[in-house]
Amino acid sequence: MTATICGTGSYIPSYTMDNNDIARLVETSDEWIRERTGVARRHIIQDETTVSMAAEAARRALNDAGVSPEEVDLIIVSTISSNVILPCAACEVQKELGAVHATCFDLSAACTGFVLAYNTALAYLTSGVYRTALLIGSESLSNLTNWKDRGTCILFGDGAGAAVLRSDDVAGTEMFPIYDPGKYFLPVTHSEGAKGGALTCKSRHDFNGLTGEKHQACQDHQADAESMLDESHYMQMDGQAVFKFAVKKVPEVIGEVLKLNQVAPEEIDYYIMHQANKRIVEAVAKRLDEPMEKFPMNLQEYGNTSSASIPILLDELNREGKLKPGQKLVLAGFGAGLTWGASIIEWH
Ligand code: COA
Repeated sequence: MTATICGTGSYIPSYTMDNNDIARLVETSDEWIRERTGVARRHIIQDETTVSMAAEAARRALNDAGVSPEEVDLIIVSTISSNVILPCAACEVQKELGAVHATCFDLSAACTGFVLAYNTALAYLTSGVYRTALLIGSESLSNLTNWKDRGTCILFGDGAGAAVLRSDDVAGTEMFPIYDPGKYFLPVTHSEGAKGGALTCKSRHDFNGLTGEKHQACQDHQADAESMLDESHYMQMDGQAVFKFAVKKVPEVIGEVLKLNQVAPEEIDYYIMHQANKRIVEAVAKRLDEPMEKFPMNLQEYGNTSSASIPILLDELNREGKLKPGQKLVLAGFGAGLTWGASIIEWH
């Protein structure tokens, strides 16, 4: 049994901030940002939330797939920036869609999140547990961005992407089949928590009513939680460390996944990489000795949207008619954790 992506969707907020808007907030310039990152503008939420964007991207993906909400067995929302802690964003999406039969949970693995959501759903589908999965990456990173820090605020943006993954046994005869190698591609993923300090963001929900100094201060001064946020509650990053990590580990993990599945680089039509920085994408292409045409990019328009970047790019390629049945794609994610991984998919 295998599983294929049979529909994609995305939602992008309409409000944009270009590099000149950023240059009014911090000391930087359009030229510097374009040259060092490739980003020209980013889309930022106004009335939208992580959940509302996720639900709209999901609606569009289901529509593209021709799958009704009632047919969905599994919803995974990958996010680090949900507007809800409880219930999980995936349950909120279920409610919005009326996907009453779905099992729902969130996944938190930052920019590798969508690749891990795909792998998780693939494991469920190929083992016969579920048949139809809705995978969503949705991020409101503008809420986690320190708009006074020019090392990070130039990079990130908001948006959501979604994909419908379906097992080829929709008729429903084969439950819990024996693992059948060769029917689908095995992923390769890694994590290195010891290096997690390179990209951090402290939870805003650690004010302890009994012991927390901040909580006490909050009571004493009747301040709201927002006024007690410090820099550690926004994304903090050692940009050079993350850059070095990405340009070394991403080509390595792509090489690993190709070797494991005995697929030659020439057989890959597109490398759908997490959209963090144009220079990272170019460095990965160079190390793999693969042409840039195989590395589509949209980070110039959206910036880094963390776990939403891969499904947004996939949806754009799909809607532009660039993906053809039988094509092989590599999805490659990397980011905070540190985490990184790659999966091969064959387009339906
Ligand atoms: N505008 C203008 N100058 C800036 C700047 C900005 N926004 N940010 C930093 N600088 C300055 C620095 O202060 C430094 O000045 P100095 O030489 O006088 O000290 C100079 O530019 C170079 O800084 P550096 O940090 O070496 O720049 P860089 O080439 O590494 O680019 C990043 C910075 C953040 C763009 C880059 O490191 C990067 O993209 N890293 C990966 C980040 C990433 O992808 N994170 C998410 C992963 S999921």
